[in-house]
Amino acid sequence: MEILEINYINFRNLIDGNIKFFPKLNLFFGKNGQGKTSILEAVYFNATGKSFRTSKASEAIKYGTNKMGVYLLYKDNISQKSLTVKFNENKKEYYYNNKKISYDEFYGKLNIVTYIPEDIILITGSPSIRRTFFDGEIAQANNEYFQDLKNYNKLLKIRNKYLKEEKTNTPEYSIYEEEFIKFGAKVIKKRLEYVQKISIILNLNYRKLFDDKKELSLNYECQLGNVKKMEIEEIKNLFKEKIQKNFSLEKRYGFSLCGPQKDDFLFILNGHEAKSTASQGEKKSIIFSLKLSEIDMVIREKKENPVLLIDDISSYFDSNRKESILNYLEKRNIQVLLSSTGKLGIASNDFYIESGEVQYGREIK
Ligand SMILES: Nc1ncnc2c1ncn2[C@@H]1O[C@H](COP(=O)(O)OP(=O)(O)OP(=O)(O)O)[C@@H](O)[C@H]1O
Ligand SMILES: [Mg+2]
Repeated sequence: MEILEINYINFRNLIDGNIKFFPKLNLFFGKNGQGKTSILEAVYFNATGKSFRTSKASEAIKYGTNKMGVYLLYKDNISQKSLTVKFNENKKEYYYNNKKISYDEFYGKLNIVTYIPEDIILITGSPSIRRTFFDGEIAQANNEYFQDLKNYNKLLKIRNKYLKEEKTNTPEYSIYEEEFIKFGAKVIKKRLEYVQKISIILNLNYRKLFDDKKELSLNYECQLGNVKKMEIEEIKNLFKEKIQKNFSLEKRYGFSLCGPQKDDFLFILNGHEAKSTASQGEKKSIIFSLKLSEIDMVIREKKENPVLLIDDISSYFDSNRKESILNYLEKRNIQVLLSSTGKLGIASNDFYIESGEVQYGREIK
């Protein structure tokens, strides 16, 4: 996929306008606080309806105004397409080729992979951050997972309500519970398959780019037990057993105590959990390798190249690691939008940003 152009109105500090992108490397450079991250964020918002900086998208609406809009043109292997997101503080509207669609239909049309400095939280943060991230990744490339997860979350809410209101003796409860187990097992099985595939690519990328003396893997930690080699029916049975065991406790607490909402994804570097042992630079390199692996996963699932967004490339790698990343990006045939405070000395198309204004090809004064 390749983004051809973006138009934005009232997005953060950006002066309303449009940018035409180039096929491979597009660099946005300029001093601090000028709008570099905002450009990448606008692209991300246009592709996903969300911000990568904040869960409150309304923060991205330009100060002093109450609505914003983004419109982009992209092409995939087949044809040229457009996506629009209109947002006022109350609601978002999504359009595909100028036709209004639901968020479910919109999600995953244009595949984007991002790398931002804050991503290190994927290692240092809580399990729920990792779950949200990996769920989004799996769903982006696999619409069936998106639906299964949505169903599971809905059933989890219903089940919790029944537990809380002590209505587990009702006939409809057992139907809900059966569905809850069915979708829970599906979610676990798909996560397992994803982890098994991405872990291999992750290790290859890490060794190739950063350190060929170390081994990196991603493990799925399932609270139900060791499900690694299980078929879906076996996972279902285990889930059922676990619920039976915990049922009286669940009724006492008034919510579900087991299921995929309790699981975690762990990065293991040379046999040790990265969270507590990897250095800062190693953590950043692990996440970068993960993002590159996501690209490969999207290509595998969708037969399309996603667009890669990298914010603030200069600020967090030593010169060797940075060079290694830039070499890699130059060689790969994917579109990359990246930001930096200075030029990078690579074959990129450069855009200069000052006070929210974007100019193609200008030098810093
Ligand atoms: N909703 C908003 N409306 C208007 N301006 C905003 C809004 N949110 C943030 N800003 C301002 O926009 C400016 C650009 O922010 P941005 O994060 O894009 O800068 P940057 O070029 O990435 O800087 P850095 O190099 O420091 O990362 C900042 O001065 C910020 O305070
Ligand atoms: Mg920035």
